[in-house]
Amino acid sequence: MSAKASGVAAGSLAVDVTEVSRIFTGKKGASVAALDNVSLTVNPGEFVSLIGPSGCGKSTLMRLIADLDTPTSGTIEVFGQSARQARLNQSYGIAFQQAGLLPWRTVAGNIELPLELHGVAKPARKARSAELLDLVGLSDFAHHYPDQLSGGMQQRVAIARSLAESPRLLLMDEPFGALDEMTRERMQNELVRICGETGAAVVFVTHSIPEAVFLSDRVVVMSPRPGRIRDILSVRLGETGERGENLREESSFFQAVSQVRELLHGEVPVGARGVETR
Ligand SMILES: Nc1ncnc2c1ncn2[C@@H]1O[C@H](COP(=O)(O)OP(=O)(O)OP(=O)(O)O)[C@@H](O)[C@H]1O
Ligand SMILES: [Mg+2]
Repeated sequence: MSAKASGVAAGSLAVDVTEVSRIFTGKKGASVAALDNVSLTVNPGEFVSLIGPSGCGKSTLMRLIADLDTPTSGTIEVFGQSARQARLNQSYGIAFQQAGLLPWRTVAGNIELPLELHGVAKPARKARSAELLDLVGLSDFAHHYPDQLSGGMQQRVAIARSLAESPRLLLMDEPFGALDEMTRERMQNELVRICGETGAAVVFVTHSIPEAVFLSDRVVVMSPRPGRIRDILSVRLGETGERGENLREESSFFQAVSQVRELLHGEVPVGARGVETR
């Protein structure tokens, strides 16, 4: 899809976070600096992972990009628009830590919701949800309700829903955290394939180093209290659509995994080993 056809300003970044801080103030005046002066850009079609210890502000940053929260200072743009405008235009798909399904809708009904909201006709909605259910391995559960599914299955429904409209930006906060290892690797392969096909940009939060390395063009390593970007590592092990199962066995993969691990543990001086900082 060309930028023009989608009504997006030509040449705009998928995500542009500039000097963003988010300070939470408690009832008794105690404050938590969840994010401190964070700047990050994501290009159209780029896959960027956020990794860092629990509480370092990953979900806070995702919520700010999705306009579910507002920065204390700094600015955020999505495809050249304010975060608020991008939310109103539904410029992205979201799959967050909690599946967030509507309990009164069936699995298929949940997946079709974004399409319904955009006035897609019923036969096209059915066809799309059938395709997505097949993708996430839940074809037999189309008419079940969310509370009849396991946590991992619910999460797969949420992922299918986020992909329903083939969005140009996906915001995914630990979407595979509740999945078993085999399903998780399958979903990773599928996500890489989908991104290759649709050219979607992705901001992806994970606690898994191999997952971040397998999926990403760049891995953003964050540090806690206050949440800051510690380093940004370019990994990009092959073209997005061509990253296959055998990549997991390659030495370049293991090398990148240990680089990210060292960065997370703070064993590499900032700026070393071709690491970009911003
Ligand atoms: N609504 C809120 N009110 C007050 N403090 C908050 C709020 N949301 C987040 N925080 C604080 O901000 C910090 C960052 O939280 P956040 O959820 O972004 O971390 P995270 O990196 O996503 O962690 P995890 O890996 O455990 O999901 C934490 O110290 C948390 O307590
Ligand atoms: Mg989180």
